[in-house]
Amino acid sequence: MKITEQPEYQEMMLKYNFAMQRLETELNILLKEYEYKKGYNPVEHIKTRMKSLESALKKLEEKGYEASVDNLVRKVYDMIGVRIVCSFLSDVYDIVELIRGSKQFIIKRENNYIDYPKESGYRSYHLIVLVPIHLGERTEYIEAEIQIRTVAMDFWASLDHKLRYKIVDRVSDEIKMGTLECSRDIYELDLKMQSLYDLLKNND
Ligand code: GTP
Ligand code: MG
Repeated sequence: MKITEQPEYQEMMLKYNFAMQRLETELNILLKEYEYKKGYNPVEHIKTRMKSLESALKKLEEKGYEASVDNLVRKVYDMIGVRIVCSFLSDVYDIVELIRGSKQFIIKRENNYIDYPKESGYRSYHLIVLVPIHLGERTEYIEAEIQIRTVAMDFWASLDHKLRYKIVDRVSDEIKMGTLECSRDIYELDLKMQSLYDLLKNND
């Protein structure tokens, strides 16, 4: 039977959609509250998405797991993805703190790809969280990935993604070196912008 026709799959998607809405709402509340308290909105934009079944199955295949609902739940931790794009470097850490302090989610894993960028030059702060959903008497926890980055990092990641996945199958060394160099340049800009922002804050 096709995965999409299995009742387990339909039940899973119901729960995941529920968890995604919950996550979105809780994050919006946290951020609105922060904005109200600080009189400052650190967010440029937020994007929430459910991974398509097609790319989830592709991911399972790449990792050598068979296509099953069970593996979708256990091995694909970014079925639900939220990307929070903010203005300054310090905003990224403020938002991480905000999420750490929330009682609405459990943090399962943190990856600081800002201080420790990936080999590609990719920078972002990743959190894998467990979102509780209440089903009658039971509470289930659904995994979700939150990526937090600056607009500059977002700009880099978006173009890198196109170069990497869309244009060429095998990325040449020249492109790899080039994007890595751009990543460093962009990080320099983030640091410069941060120091300007710090100056401004100190003069307030
Ligand atoms: P994958 O999602 O299979 O990569 O699992 P993983 O355990 O390697 O997770 P990781 O934290 O490395 O990356 C998760 C997500 O970060 C990816 O789905 C992308 O959205 C993003 N990402 C990671 N590396 C890169 C990169 O080199 N370039 C771009 N543009 N995005 C990246
Ligand atoms: Mg990866």
